Amino acid sequence: MTIDARTTASGLEGVVVADTGLSEVDGERGRLILRGHDVEALALSATCEDAVGLLLRGALPAAAEREEIRRGLGEARAAAFARLPRLGDALEATDGMAALRAATAHLSTAGADRAADEGALIGAAAVFAAAWARARAGLPPVAPDPGLSHAADYLRMVRGEEAAPALCRALDTYLVTVTDHGMNASTFAARVVASTGSDLVSAVVAAIGALKGPLHGGAPGPVLDMLDAIGAGERAARWLEAELVAGRRIMGMGHRIYRVRDPRAAVLERAIEALERAGVSSGRLALARAVERAAEGALRARHPDRPLHANVEFYTAVLLDSIGLPRALFTPTFAVGRVIGWLAHIEEQRRTGRLIRPASRYTGPQPGA
Ligand code: COA
Repeated sequence: MTIDARTTASGLEGVVVADTGLSEVDGERGRLILRGHDVEALALSATCEDAVGLLLRGALPAAAEREEIRRGLGEARAAAFARLPRLGDALEATDGMAALRAATAHLSTAGADRAADEGALIGAAAVFAAAWARARAGLPPVAPDPGLSHAADYLRMVRGEEAAPALCRALDTYLVTVTDHGMNASTFAARVVASTGSDLVSAVVAAIGALKGPLHGGAPGPVLDMLDAIGAGERAARWLEAELVAGRRIMGMGHRIYRVRDPRAAVLERAIEALERAGVSSGRLALARAVERAAEGALRARHPDRPLHANVEFYTAVLLDSIGLPRALFTPTFAVGRVIGWLAHIEEQRRTGRLIRPASRYTGPQPGA
């Protein structure tokens, strides 16, 4: 087969590698559809259990099925917690994603019951992320309460006490918002591994590794650092300009697909407003809005032909901080939601039975040259 050099794109932009029924990202109109539902309509009221039904079973679950999913995830969290003593030093890593990767790699799935295997990975992500955050704070892990919803129990396992319903609602909104997003890098990584016929754990571990990178899932912590460094809206323009002059990127801004504002930024902004109405505020929303406006202006001046707007991670930082999660836990919390999408893509890829194996163009020397 000859390779047409014109088809090479180092970032694979515009290359379609799969048909998917899971999500559609419309970068021109700023629209994200999760299996037939606009993210704005879904995420402010749906839960992780709903997302499991929607993405892994095909439709939003009715009450009885939602309850069954909730029970299954609760059992999976309990099973993951029971494994903690056998994880060696996996959760001692200083980086939360390195810890999640190492701990997840300890798992093995039987392969006989797909829903149980998927539940095991979803439950484990929450338990391992929470246990890592506790260990980092010098605290013992908190055993799950299988009777709670997945989001409420995650928060409880991190904080050591049950969280107010408004906080659990906000976390569910975040987790549902980030469950799936087209052929992003971690999802692609998961699908490549799944396409080889490898196992579920290997595919999810690969995805965790991809999500760890700052250009993918690692931006919300630095966004909060940026807001802290700027401190007040009137200082934003000068601070941002200095960053750009130094050749650094503004975290939480820009996107490979979106040419308008990321619709997930709007959902999360609304969730922060809802939290404020419930009396929970990190005090950073006004600052974040001012910094977003200033960053848009600075980036427009520098890249007039390339629209660069806030992406999901910009308001993730403010939302997760308002919920009370430590910033080192932001990317692992992203994984707690995104693992649902990874698993749905892995299953979709498996069904195709097709190995993903692109080509490269050789630029090295010829023998004897
Ligand atoms: N800050 C400053 N400049 C940015 C930028 C940002 N956040 N995002 C893109 N640009 C600039 C690039 O430097 C590039 O400029 P150049 O053409 O002069 O080299 C131009 O815009 C095009 O960017 P490109 O690297 O081709 O875009 P991409 O599709 O590869 O990048 C991201 C997408 C997300 C990786 C990029 O916007 C980024 O690094 N954002 C910050 C990290 C972040 O928020 N990640 C979370 C993503 S959800």
